Amino acid sequence: MSIWLVALLALFAALAHGKPGYGPGEQDWGYVDVRPGAHMFYWLYYTTANVSSYTERPLAIWLQGGPGASSTGYGNFEELGPVDLYGDWRSWTWVKDMNVLFIDNPVGSGFSYVDNTAYYTATNKEIALDLVELMKGFYTLHPEFEEVPLHIFCESYGGKMALKVNELLEKTPLKVGVFSGGLDLICATPGTVNWIAKLDWSRRDEYLAAPRNAITVDRILEGYQKTGGNFTMFWINRSGHMAPADNPAAMSHVLREFTSFG
Ligand SMILES: *[C@@H]1O[C@H](CO)[C@@H](O)[C@H](O)[C@H]1NC(C)=O
Ligand SMILES: *[C@@H]1O[C@H](CO)[C@@H](O)[C@H](O)[C@H]1NC(C)=O
Ligand SMILES: *[C@@H]1O[C@H](CO)[C@@H](O)[C@H](O)[C@H]1NC(C)=O
Repeated sequence: MSIWLVALLALFAALAHGKPGYGPGEQDWGYVDVRPGAHMFYWLYYTTANVSSYTERPLAIWLQGGPGASSTGYGNFEELGPVDLYGDWRSWTWVKDMNVLFIDNPVGSGFSYVDNTAYYTATNKEIALDLVELMKGFYTLHPEFEEVPLHIFCESYGGKMALKVNELLEKTPLKVGVFSGGLDLICATPGTVNWIAKLDWSRRDEYLAAPRNAITVDRILEGYQKTGGNFTMFWINRSGHMAPADNPAAMSHVLREFTSFG
């Protein structure tokens, strides 16, 4: 009896703080009930950067495209998490520089689930509202992140939700970035450019009128970026669908500049 109690207490203590998990560094994960019967899963990696407190570094949210691909699975293990698909540590993981929050969204993807199929989302608006609930729940569990700059990164379609979330959350500071690999045949760049141009949001005109600037690393052209308000679109050269994995040099430059950490 008392052993169980101790074990339970230890479990809750571990849940309340970071826990050693899979791969290097501290982590936390869990569910937020975003609606009755709808449960959304997140996996947080605290940065392994040499800082006195992890709150010195930004929080990056990674939203997988698809929609319906798992962020905690796909983005985490195949693109930018600390451990790759073979169980090896990834030398250029984003976690080295910042806190990274993977969210399985919409409900039904990855570990996120619903109690009844009637609770699935049907529109981008519904998906965005769930994400906002997830974020509210996350900040309740981790109030220390309230003052930490927040960046949402999306691959391809993920951006459609992110812009809505940005306007709904009205959290400052919050920036949204959407990537597109120039050789991406899953979500071809022209398609991404098109839906962004058509998207209805407050700073649309400013974005459309903005110049497209070159991204250069060591005098090599690695892509382009275009910013309006707190939204940036990145074109990543020599990259297919999974830009963080395909062109880490360009991506780490983008991260450093876009999030202004360290
Ligand atoms: C971490 O940073 C401190 C203070 O800047 C420095 O003294 C220490 O050598 C660093 N440790 C590592 C492993 O880089
Ligand atoms: C953009 O972010 C800044 C702070 O980073 C904030 O003051 C501003 O309201 C945001 N603008 C929009 C359109 O979200
Ligand atoms: C970079 O990508 C652009 C398209 O976005 C393309 O026009 C250009 O040729 C590419 N440059 C290199 C060096 O790959």
